Amino acid sequence: MTAAPEPQAGSAPEKRLFIKTYGCQMNVYDSERMADVLRPLGYGVVDSPEGADLVVLNTCHIREKAAEKVYSEIGRLKELRAEDPASAGMTIAVAGCVAQAEGQELMNRAPAVDFVIGPQAFHKLPELVARNSRVRGERLSAEFAAEEKFDALAGPAAARKVAGPAAFLTVQEGCDKFCTFCVVPYTRGAEFSRPAEAILAEARALAEQGVREVTLLGQNVNAYDGAPGGLAALVRALAAVPGLDRIRYTTSHPRDMDAALIAAHGEIEALMPYLHLPVQSGSDRVLKAMNRAHTAERYLRLVERIRGARPDIALSGDFIVGFPGETDADFDATLELVRQVRYASAFSFKYSRRPGTPAAVMADQVEETVKAERLARLQALLEEQRQSFNAAVVGRTLPVLFERKGRYAGQVVGRTPYLQGIFTEGPDTLIGQIAAVEITATGPNSLSGRLAAADAALEPA
Ligand code: SAH
Ligand code: SF4
Ligand code: F3S
Repeated sequence: MTAAPEPQAGSAPEKRLFIKTYGCQMNVYDSERMADVLRPLGYGVVDSPEGADLVVLNTCHIREKAAEKVYSEIGRLKELRAEDPASAGMTIAVAGCVAQAEGQELMNRAPAVDFVIGPQAFHKLPELVARNSRVRGERLSAEFAAEEKFDALAGPAAARKVAGPAAFLTVQEGCDKFCTFCVVPYTRGAEFSRPAEAILAEARALAEQGVREVTLLGQNVNAYDGAPGGLAALVRALAAVPGLDRIRYTTSHPRDMDAALIAAHGEIEALMPYLHLPVQSGSDRVLKAMNRAHTAERYLRLVERIRGARPDIALSGDFIVGFPGETDADFDATLELVRQVRYASAFSFKYSRRPGTPAAVMADQVEETVKAERLARLQALLEEQRQSFNAAVVGRTLPVLFERKGRYAGQVVGRTPYLQGIFTEGPDTLIGQIAAVEITATGPNSLSGRLAAADAALEPA
């Protein structure tokens, strides 16, 4: 892939594209790719909807709150379009998982929307906007066509342009697991793995643009089967790409964490010591009702094996509290599992009833107040663990990849191998570089440190 062709001076005037992204990292990747496919048509990304020619809401359907946000945003845009003369020509598009799940309903409920486009059809955006916007009422793709999409995105018309030294790279999309609470199998379709050659080509192009770290994305990234040897083999091949120093992957399902991938954590230097491994619950009864296909014990054994390969690994997880039928004893089992694992970070949510999923119609839905109380207790414990993980790196000297300027002049921001955000004083020229930093303190959300002397002994990350 070569650099994206910039619109020629004197050609069509620059059109303004505003993309608002909700949800997971895959949506972040998709939003970047939407900008890539629209760039050859003269669209440049702007950072507010005022005066935009095209606004794309890239939506998330995972919890009710996420999905509802879209409707209030559409309301704001509708008002802007009606009241601000500079925004009168704005086309409003809804993309992503809400578009896929509620396409028709969305068009009916929010007539201000010009068109909706599912997560596996956004490569067709140019086709839609070339019909000269305001294609009112069109709805593109309720079919799943991941292969076609990735083929289209690999073409020269959609050359990737990245902003910083850390980038996402989707390698797998979709899910066949059907956890009973989750909409993803319905919004992203069946598991699909991109061929390794296409991923390597994209990675090389990223490295040529100065990218030092890639995070491989997939709803079930460790189910990747686009190359013999699965994800472990893919990581190994990527580690050999000149310039790529750091590799991460997310999200993994415990049941696809195979021996080769576990071993890779001890063998491949570029594979960063961080693993997001959602467990959802510590109660076997709840895990079964969730269709997670593992027990708490099996998860704990897995964690032990992973730590056997990479003792310092930072583990993170996702949790749902208040799944239908969850009792106090079930919830206590979750707390107990968390105490045993000791997480470096985590995301936790109140169970949200999603139409069309089996859990939505299960008996014994849990009261909101009970969910809230459990969530607060779980989050307090997880926060304590996060703080203690962070405190444990104070005094160490770690390689930090600097990604951007800080809020104050002379400050730069980066990440440790454990994905902790860190601030330090240093010149902007550090951005895009990996440098040794002595960690001096922890704050509520990030670490601070000072640049170590160039010849400082770097601990193995
Ligand atoms: N593929 C990943 C997660 C995808 S969704 C996995 O298998 O773990 C991200 C997280 O959202 C999930 O891990 C889960 O914790 C949460 N989530 C999904 N559906 C939910 C629901 N209905 N209510 C609350 N949280 C939910
Ligand atoms: Fe959803 Fe489960 Fe698939 Fe993760 S594995 S995306 S939680 S159905
Ligand atoms: Fe949300 Fe779709 Fe991602 S539902 S979490 S944007 S896969």
